[in-house]
Amino acid sequence: MRDSRSAAWDAYSQSRTQRRRTNARGETTWFNWTQHPDHGPGAEILRLKPGDSVLDLGCGSGGNLAHLAFLGMRATGVDLSGAQLAKARERWTEVEGMEVHQGDALAFLTTSATRFDAVYSVFGAAYFTDPRLTLPTVRRHLAPGGVFAMSQHPAVDGCYGCQASYIPRGADEDPAIVRRWDYPPAIWTALFEEHGFEDVTAAVLPAPPHGRRRIGTLLVRGVRGS
Ligand SMILES: C[S@@+](CC[C@H](N)C(=O)[O-])C[C@H]1O[C@@H](n2cnc3c(N)ncnc32)[C@H](O)[C@@H]1O
Repeated sequence: MRDSRSAAWDAYSQSRTQRRRTNARGETTWFNWTQHPDHGPGAEILRLKPGDSVLDLGCGSGGNLAHLAFLGMRATGVDLSGAQLAKARERWTEVEGMEVHQGDALAFLTTSATRFDAVYSVFGAAYFTDPRLTLPTVRRHLAPGGVFAMSQHPAVDGCYGCQASYIPRGADEDPAIVRRWDYPPAIWTALFEEHGFEDVTAAVLPAPPHGRRRIGTLLVRGVRGS
């Protein structure tokens, strides 16, 4: 039977347009941890070099993954949504060194024999999966010294733990509902450390000063201890 989460994310995909052809600097590929264009840090956070292997949990239409492949990394993405992956395959067909798989991120990792040099998730599967399941699984599949980094919306004050996210569908349809996990930065730090990550940083990057969208981005990063 089809996973109801896949249907929800297929609906989400229909509401999204493809990434712009170029960013403000005229680049055709780039990394963005946030939902604001031309904002925030880039791929350097992952501390990768050409030839390294990297996994995107919930890669969606693949823009960040394509950038890493363009930089020479062996870039693998996994996503529940066939519609999202169809967009990735259509847009990044020319990019070498990039592969995408359909399925649940943790199920994919559990059956993978690869030890990745970095794992990341941008508003992706790590947002929508209990971190008490994600963190030990990611740690097992990261090379020692490898980075795990994830971004998502900052938690609303007092709304912590498992929360409901509503994905709009047609005018006459109920929204699709998926679960997400929200915590303040101090709790994310403790969770990462509890699961064997070191040098953990967790902070909210404010939205760009110009523009009407005011919600920033929570970015959490840790290094797999030996
Ligand atoms: C908000 S979109 C973000 C997509 C992409 N990371 C980006 O920045 O554009 C969330 C993505 O996570 C995927 N996703 C959610 N839960 C997942 C899971 N458990 N396993 C794999 N993918 C998942 C969805 O299908 C969707 O494509």
